[in-house]
Amino acid sequence: MNRIAVFTSGGDAPGMNACIRAVVRCAIYHDVEIYGIKRGFDGMIKGNIYPMNSHSVSNIIQKGGTILKSARSKEFMTEEGRKKAYQQLRNFDIDGLIAIGGNGTFTGAKIFHEEFGIPTVGCPGTIDNDLFGTDNTIGYDTAVNTALDAIDKIRDTADSHNRIFFIEVMGRDSGYIAIQSAIGGGAELVMVPETRTTIEDVIETLKEGRLKHKTSAIVIVAEGDEEGNATEIAAKVKEKTLDLDIKVTTLGHIQRGGSPTARDRILASRTGLAAVEGLLNGMKSVMAGIVNDELVYTSFADTIQKGKPIHEDLIRMVSVLSI
Ligand code: F6P
Repeated sequence: MNRIAVFTSGGDAPGMNACIRAVVRCAIYHDVEIYGIKRGFDGMIKGNIYPMNSHSVSNIIQKGGTILKSARSKEFMTEEGRKKAYQQLRNFDIDGLIAIGGNGTFTGAKIFHEEFGIPTVGCPGTIDNDLFGTDNTIGYDTAVNTALDAIDKIRDTADSHNRIFFIEVMGRDSGYIAIQSAIGGGAELVMVPETRTTIEDVIETLKEGRLKHKTSAIVIVAEGDEEGNATEIAAKVKEKTLDLDIKVTTLGHIQRGGSPTARDRILASRTGLAAVEGLLNGMKSVMAGIVNDELVYTSFADTIQKGKPIHEDLIRMVSVLSI
């Protein structure tokens, strides 16, 4: 393998830059030419591909976002789009790919390999932490810390005004950010897509809190909860409990930005290096992850199909610790 390319795809995540840096520097260390593809699969289709060197990744380890930009490509989902992407890679003589992203990215890379034989090794880049084959994903730790910082501030004002706050965190299909920030933020309740919490359960918890002379409460809601988003859930609760002073805050994309934490930079560096060395050793359609502090490669098929359930103990912990 003489020339490989790296790209970021899907939702960006803090630490993606640290991962790009590791990929570029590791390729150069092994005397392999390294190219960057801008805007993920979209850039691959359009030939938005350029050579990188050691200096291309100077001074980015601490930066949020991704210098390679990201996108969710609709065109790559079509065979026609993938054909164009393959032709572009041929034009640039690229033999292998490093994909930094989540499930959608790995699904695309797996199909692409099956159709055109271009091998890809992945790095787990998503704030959602929903990938099987790694204990944590790049960006997750930073996102949880960003959410916690906001929750602490909201708690101050919630307490001053005796209010109940519903705080929505990201996670369309996954409650990892919600559960960790609920534990770390001392929330009264957490609502995640993985388990069912009804409006009656919420009202019950809030009423119990009142009986125990709690003056304020924090409910963390993952955006993909089956009862709706935080605004919808708060409206349903309000309808049935007119006497409660309820406010809603949606943290939104603030969780996707910012300087990566030490944990995210190190995870990004480890998996970036491992992905390049895996690719050079003939691996294909696998993701480099860290499980129990050990490097593991998991097939894209498993990463995509096998879920990563939230430990029941963590959900129980929120209610036990908020009595
Ligand atoms: O996958 C990461 C994520 O931030 C999810 O938590 C969220 O549901 C989604 O991306 C939002 O995507 P977009 O920025 O494209 O709206």
